[in-house]
Amino acid sequence: MRPTREQAWETLTQYTKSEALLRHALAVEASVGHYAELYGEDEDFWRATALLHDFDYEVHPTLDEHPQDGAPMLREAGYPEELIEAVLSHAEHLALPRDTQLKKVLFACDELSGFVHACGLVRPTGLDGLEPKSVKKKLKQPSFAAGVHRDEVYAGAELLGLELDEHIRNVVAALQPIAKELGLRTAADAA
Ligand SMILES: [Fe+2]
Ligand SMILES: [Fe+2]
Repeated sequence: MRPTREQAWETLTQYTKSEALLRHALAVEASVGHYAELYGEDEDFWRATALLHDFDYEVHPTLDEHPQDGAPMLREAGYPEELIEAVLSHAEHLALPRDTQLKKVLFACDELSGFVHACGLVRPTGLDGLEPKSVKKKLKQPSFAAGVHRDEVYAGAELLGLELDEHIRNVVAALQPIAKELGLRTAADAA
């Protein structure tokens, strides 16, 4: 079967109740979907993959289980290997090749989406007016969003062959339309 975004959302919410994790999934979905559109790829399939990349994190919160023990669950639910392989490849500790555009984009969007989201949360206008310069400045402050692996942010942009500025701009643009769902303010709220 070719999974849809809606099916992926159903599977995700079956295993994930935490609002923070659901927001993370939505943020990564938006970024990956944005790149699918930019690259003329199968947006619905890419979105489904992104939504599911951490679907088992609540039941498998440690790296000796996540995401590898989630893979059989996805297989059981009928998801195709192409999606499962991409999900597995986001995990650094599994050291799998990122040999498709989807795998590259998923990896590149995972940490940066979380980081840009965090930047938006501390600004009165959320993501509106957020420039790559200030995101990069925050990347250099280890105490800010300390859980985000900086090395993976830099490696992601490189993997896509993009300047970090451009990658940041893409992710900011991707998250802006779902600011409300991410719990972010907008320039309209600040006015
Ligand atoms: Fe993960
Ligand atoms: Fe993630």
